[in-house]
Amino acid sequence: MAKTKSVYVCNDCGASSPKWVGQCPSCNAWNSLTENVQAPSSPRRGVISIDGFASRTEIQTLDNIKPEDLTRYSTGLEELDRVLGGGMVPGSVVLLGGDPGIGKSTLLLQALTTMSAQTQTLYVTGEESAEQVAMRAHRLDLDSKSLQIMTENGLERILQGVQQHKPGIIVIDSIQTLYTELLQSAPGSVSQVRECAAQLVRFAKQSGTALYLVGHVTKEGALAGPRVLEHMVDTVLYFEGEASNSFRIVRAIKNRFGAVNEIGVFVMSETGLREVNNPSALFLSRQGDRVSGDVVLATQEGTRPLLVEVQALVDSSPHNNPRRVCVGLDQNRLAMLLAVLHRHADVSLSDYDVFINVVGGVRISETGSDLAVVVAMVSSLRDQPLGKDLVVFGEIGLGGEIRPVQRGQERLQEAAKLGFKRAMVAAANKPKQAIKGMDVIAIKRLGELFQLFQ
Ligand code: TYD
Ligand code: MG
Repeated sequence: MAKTKSVYVCNDCGASSPKWVGQCPSCNAWNSLTENVQAPSSPRRGVISIDGFASRTEIQTLDNIKPEDLTRYSTGLEELDRVLGGGMVPGSVVLLGGDPGIGKSTLLLQALTTMSAQTQTLYVTGEESAEQVAMRAHRLDLDSKSLQIMTENGLERILQGVQQHKPGIIVIDSIQTLYTELLQSAPGSVSQVRECAAQLVRFAKQSGTALYLVGHVTKEGALAGPRVLEHMVDTVLYFEGEASNSFRIVRAIKNRFGAVNEIGVFVMSETGLREVNNPSALFLSRQGDRVSGDVVLATQEGTRPLLVEVQALVDSSPHNNPRRVCVGLDQNRLAMLLAVLHRHADVSLSDYDVFINVVGGVRISETGSDLAVVVAMVSSLRDQPLGKDLVVFGEIGLGGEIRPVQRGQERLQEAAKLGFKRAMVAAANKPKQAIKGMDVIAIKRLGELFQLFQ
């Protein structure tokens, strides 16, 4: 019998090493190597031989290739369709990542039942029993007449079943439960996840089947298993949200068929996920007056403007090292804003704890939030609330200058639509034609923001 050999594979990047080491030599992650048993070497499988390759591949010019009229499958959920770039492209592979219990299975079950009216669909579950899925479909009141289901973990048997039934759309829930007989390592190990995904992607491309892969997320927030998974697929979606509230956000991290950073907003209800078509209204609390430190930011998520509340609490600190805590914003950006505020507006917060929170569990990654964060901090420091009708956006440079952001006009229009009457923006973002009912305060330097507090 051929000798088996152990290799140590990094759970983060998939690099392998013949010996166990504490730090991955390739990606420098600590303690990420796990033992895998390498199968005895055998002829390469799944690779087209040179002869086959030569006979099947020809070189041609790009304009000779007519893109087929791709009709996208609609998921029946407008929010999800938009994140996908206008529906699900046949032959594309989507990876949906998220914490356990966030609602990945619920979302895909809902989408799949709608799509089963357009083509044959198959739900492969390796985590739940068929009865559990049926119970959920029943509870969600889904029309599951034409939805096919398979409870299986073996990749070979899944591919066999799929070749018989030829579905147009397949959901694999989840990729971490699959194993291929080619490898001896346990399901969920890096090599298994990578090999199973590779075979499924190859199958999807060859057959034109649309494929959803569900992936678990590690404690650190990355997709469990090698990051190579993200390179192999066409679209990477993250399902975000907090256990404490019912908002759920689907975010496109990578998309070969649409805009990245596009988000879809849902609410988890008793009867499954419901879409939220006007998220700005959802993230703004309309009751009562604004308290100090509370500012509405007009931000941009993908192709859509979004209004969210930014809150700051500036409080005298009992510590030698005052605390700077950000929820929903980048901590380093806050440090930079504090320095700019000190240097260019003569406001020092070095004796104060600063807490920043973006309401509703939204995460802001764009620099257009700078001005809103600074205005919120000043409002909290002076204990002066700002009016309910004010919206703010703009980037702040290290020189204390206020820089314009993309799509200023759309953000202002969204704010006007929701009843805001005043906006503070960078001078370069001031619209050439006035927006009805909106008074735009355009500023060039940081110091000019104090006109809000007179
Ligand atoms: P699930 O889709 O199983 O999560 P995942 O596949 O990401 O692990 O979602 C399970 C959670 O959603 C569970 O905590 C219960 C909740 N839920 C509802 O609140 N309402 C519903 O209608 C359903 C089906 C689930
Ligand atoms: Mg699940």
